Amino acid sequence: MTGASSGIGRAVAHALARRGATVIACARREALLQQLVEELGSDRHWYVVCDVSDLESVRAMAAEVAGRTDHLDLLVNNAGRPGAGLIAEATPEEVESVLKTNLIGGIWCTQLLHELIDASPSTPRLPAVVNVASISGRIPLPGAATYTASKFGMVGFSEALWAEMRNRDIHVTVVNPGLVHTEGFPMDEVLGMPLLRRLVMSPDRVAEALCEGVETGRAEVRVQRWWSGVYYLLFALGPYRRRLLRGFLRLVNKAVTTKR
Ligand SMILES: NC(=O)c1ccc[n+]([C@@H]2O[C@H](COP(=O)([O-])OP(=O)(O)OC[C@H]3O[C@@H](n4cnc5c(N)ncnc54)[C@H](OP(=O)(O)O)[C@@H]3O)[C@@H](O)[C@H]2O)c1
Repeated sequence: MTGASSGIGRAVAHALARRGATVIACARREALLQQLVEELGSDRHWYVVCDVSDLESVRAMAAEVAGRTDHLDLLVNNAGRPGAGLIAEATPEEVESVLKTNLIGGIWCTQLLHELIDASPSTPRLPAVVNVASISGRIPLPGAATYTASKFGMVGFSEALWAEMRNRDIHVTVVNPGLVHTEGFPMDEVLGMPLLRRLVMSPDRVAEALCEGVETGRAEVRVQRWWSGVYYLLFALGPYRRRLLRGFLRLVNKAVTTKR
């Protein structure tokens, strides 16, 4: 599982270990991976340091995994970073890093590990690939166009992969969480707003929803179900959704500025 050193990934690693899985934790920060594996409390779990935005690093990770196990029941592509902000202010390097970390890295991991996934004994729900995208892979996030592009890309990749992998009995699930309070995506400002704080979830809630999604063979997990209503409403509004989203962004900006 990628992005295991903090936030949602760390919570998923714990949830999977509780269910009896052997966890292979990947991320860049070795000390945190070491700590996680110790916390998981069994010598069957292990880690590989890997930067998913770097092809050579993903190749080395895949080779190490292939050297230590003959199959993978579940791949969780979760590594991600926040967006580059407003397109006029972001550097091209930031844009590249967001797309490589949030989208291309997950595609590379799926490609380079697919033989091990293929080699997993087929059961009703496994093997499976789980991609952690975002609700902003369904609903554009104004002010974060690059992040939105990376997550729409991940949702599109997951849907096409679902169809491709079905012939090979590999399940594909895309998880689209809303707001989650984590190191990379701190929600302190939203948590300080009485009306909006209820929207924020814990990483553990996302982890449980992800595991249930795999256990029930869901193609998409939105974690908070009311997001589906928002999604279908915006879809039904057609071109008017852009005005609504712009109005919503103004409202949030105003609330944040007033609070400061
Ligand atoms: N928090 C939210 O509100 C929210 C909402 C929807 C979707 N998501 C998605 O959920 C996923 C997890 O995010 P999070 O909220 O749990 O944030 P987080 O706590 O910052 O975790 C991000 C994880 O990704 C890893 N990572 C980042 N860049 C990497 C790279 N180049 N190579 C390998 N690993 C990398 C980080 O580990 P290292 O730094 O050690 O490499 C860390 O383990 C992301 O894909 C994010 O887009 C988050």
